[in-house]
Amino acid sequence: MDAGTTGEARKPLLRALSGEAVWPPPMWLMRQAGRYLPEYREVRKQAGDFIALCTTPDLAAEVTIQPIRRYGMDGAILFSDILMVPWALGQGLRFAEGEGPVLDPLRDATAVASLELDKVRERAAPIFETVRLTRAALAAHAPKVALIGFAGSPWTVAAYMVEGHGSKDFRTARGMAYADPTLFGRLIRTLVDATTDYLLAQIEAGAEAVMLFDSWAGMLPPGQFRRWVIEPSAAIVRNVKRVHPSIPVIGFPRLAGPLIGEYAQRTGVNTVAMDTAMDPRLAASLVPANVGLQGNLDPLSLVAGGIALETEARQILAAMRGRPFVFNLGHGIEKETPPEHVAQLVRLVRSGG
Ligand code: CP3
Repeated sequence: MDAGTTGEARKPLLRALSGEAVWPPPMWLMRQAGRYLPEYREVRKQAGDFIALCTTPDLAAEVTIQPIRRYGMDGAILFSDILMVPWALGQGLRFAEGEGPVLDPLRDATAVASLELDKVRERAAPIFETVRLTRAALAAHAPKVALIGFAGSPWTVAAYMVEGHGSKDFRTARGMAYADPTLFGRLIRTLVDATTDYLLAQIEAGAEAVMLFDSWAGMLPPGQFRRWVIEPSAAIVRNVKRVHPSIPVIGFPRLAGPLIGEYAQRTGVNTVAMDTAMDPRLAASLVPANVGLQGNLDPLSLVAGGIALETEARQILAAMRGRPFVFNLGHGIEKETPPEHVAQLVRLVRSGG
């Protein structure tokens, strides 16, 4: 189901992600399905824990579609988590209430060698089924909405796998990358292969674009950034495009600063997602004109709403006019966000600012 060869290539989001300056810009929001929505909290309760929600296809498809039903975004993003790849590789994972993700930390050669690359497709099968169900539901009820698949990038996923939990500096993972680059490189290569396979399976199930989340890219100095962020991301993009050349790929090198330019040139992504701290005009000057931009409203301005929200959103729209652009946040939506502020933002973006 290659979007480029069907009439569905007319979906505004896919046009923008493929390099067309569509105006008003198409939009979706990172973490648009989540705890700020009462209908999400209801399904989450029904599922029990978070992993059960991600691996129960009819419930995961339902929460994927909830924000589309409520707001009519241009993109639906598969409901899952970047840590489902380590989970599918066999690493112990749980989401502790109020604590975030907890993994059995992976610190030595034995642990890296025990990862089961050949089990990823089988274990992640319910996630691909979610993609299939969601795509069918969109085709029936929202034919202009594109379905986005995703994965974490190797660096960010490895950081959680080594650390074993969220962290403000991921010092164990960053330390391992210096102290034992051979072992760390083996982990990264395993993740390149697992992520390639995982994204290809999502595309085969109906994902029309894919996004690589590199939330912790900005912690690395330039040499490490090239080795652990740019090179593995470029390998995944090459692998995916070899099989599906017209599938748009979005990369999100969060807090990369000026390295966003080199990332855009060397990874081969079609669109670069800007984080909250990035100046859109600087990004526009650093990123080649044929690469799209996405972003980057501060999620806290969406919590505030009103004039603050309007001012911030309008500045981004003014800076991006004339470029291939997708309106989004600079990071995930906050759980305190009043749902009516999202409706206010959709109206504003639809008017072109
Ligand atoms: O955007 C979407 O709506 C799609 C689903 C999605 C989730 N996580 C659902 C989720 C996506 C794309 C992600 C990506 C993700 N997960 C990232 C990269 C983007 C980013 O935010 O930087 C990262 C680093 C993770 C890892 C992760 N998952 C953390 C740190 C947490 C705990 C923090 C929190 O908000 O609770 C999660 C859990 C998680 N993933 C939730 C959701 C909706 C909350 C779980 C719940 O409902 O209890």
